[in-house]
Amino acid sequence: MPAIGFGTWQLTGDTCVDGVSQALKVGYRHIDTASGYQNEAEVGAGIRASGVPRDDIFLTTKVSPDNLADDDFQRSADRSLAQLGVDRVDLLLIHWPSKTIPVSHTIRSLNKALERGATRHIGVSNFTLALLDEAWAATDAPIVTNQCEYHPYLDQDKLLTACREKGMIFTAFSPFARRGVLADPVIGAIAKEHARTPGQVILRWDIQQAAVVPIPKSTRPENIAANFDVFGFELSDEEMGSINALSRTHQLRVANPAAVAPQWDT
Ligand SMILES: NC(=O)c1ccc[n+]([C@@H]2O[C@H](COP(=O)([O-])OP(=O)(O)OC[C@H]3O[C@@H](n4cnc5c(N)ncnc54)[C@H](OP(=O)(O)O)[C@@H]3O)[C@@H](O)[C@H]2O)c1
Repeated sequence: MPAIGFGTWQLTGDTCVDGVSQALKVGYRHIDTASGYQNEAEVGAGIRASGVPRDDIFLTTKVSPDNLADDDFQRSADRSLAQLGVDRVDLLLIHWPSKTIPVSHTIRSLNKALERGATRHIGVSNFTLALLDEAWAATDAPIVTNQCEYHPYLDQDKLLTACREKGMIFTAFSPFARRGVLADPVIGAIAKEHARTPGQVILRWDIQQAAVVPIPKSTRPENIAANFDVFGFELSDEEMGSINALSRTHQLRVANPAAVAPQWDT
C-alpha cells in the first residue's frame, strides 16, 4: 500500500474528478473512496483523466453497514466496480462493523468478494481489538488493514500495537481531525523549525511510525500538493515524542459517534 493515500469523503462533482486527477498527477498512487461517499463515478473519472495507468494505482473502496448481508454485500461490491469503471479494486473494506450481523458472516462475504476477483486484498475499518480478533478467527485470507481515525489528538496505541502484531497496516483516516489539530502550537512550532506547514508535519509524523498510512483529504490544489510533499524532511525523536504527547492532554474524535457500534479501545 503506498505510504500516503488521497481521501475523497465529501468530494463531489468536478471537485472530486479534479481532486483525484490532480492528486495522481502530483504523485499520489493510493486513492480512498467508499460506496457510501456516493462519488465512485467521479473518482473513476478522475483516475482516467489523470492519465496514470490503472495498474499503478492502489484503489480502495468500502461496503456500507446497510449492505453487509451477503447478497447485498456482493451487489454493493459489483456496483462499486461498475461506478469506478474498473475490473477490481485493490482493497475492499467493511466500512463500519454491523450492529446486527455477526463479524464472522461479514468476513465470509469479504472473503467471497476476494475469491471471485472483485478485489486484490481485503480489510476492515472502525474495528476494535475484540472485533479484529473475531475477524481474524473467521477469515481465510489476510486482513491487510484496519482503517481508523488517527491524529495527534487521539491515542490509538492499543489498536496500533495490535495491527503491527498481526502484520496489518493501520490506515489513518481524518489525519488532521478535519482541521481540528492544524492550529496546535506544538505542531506549529515544529513546522516553523522545518519551514513546513502544520499539515506536512502531521503527515510526516504519521509516515515515520511503523505501519501507519495516512489518507488526507483536500479540495484545494495547493493543499493536495503540499500533503504529498512530505518525503524531503525528517522529524527528530524529540519532535515525534512531543507530538505523541499531545493526546495525553487533548482528546478529540471526529468520526460519527452515532455510527459507532462497539466500545472504542482508547
Ligand atoms: N473509514 C471511515 O470511516 C472514514 C471516516 C472518515 C474519513 N475517512 C477517509 O479519510 C479521509 C480523510 O479524512 P477527513 O476527510 O475526515 O479529514 P482530514 O483529512 O483530517 O481533513 C480534511 C480537512 O483538512 C483540510 N486540509 C487538508 N489539507 C490541508 C492543508 N494542507 N492545510 C490546511 N488545511 C488542509 C481540508 O480543507 P481544504 O479542502 O480546504 O484543503 C479539509 O477541511 C476521508 O476523505 C476519507 O477518505 C474514512
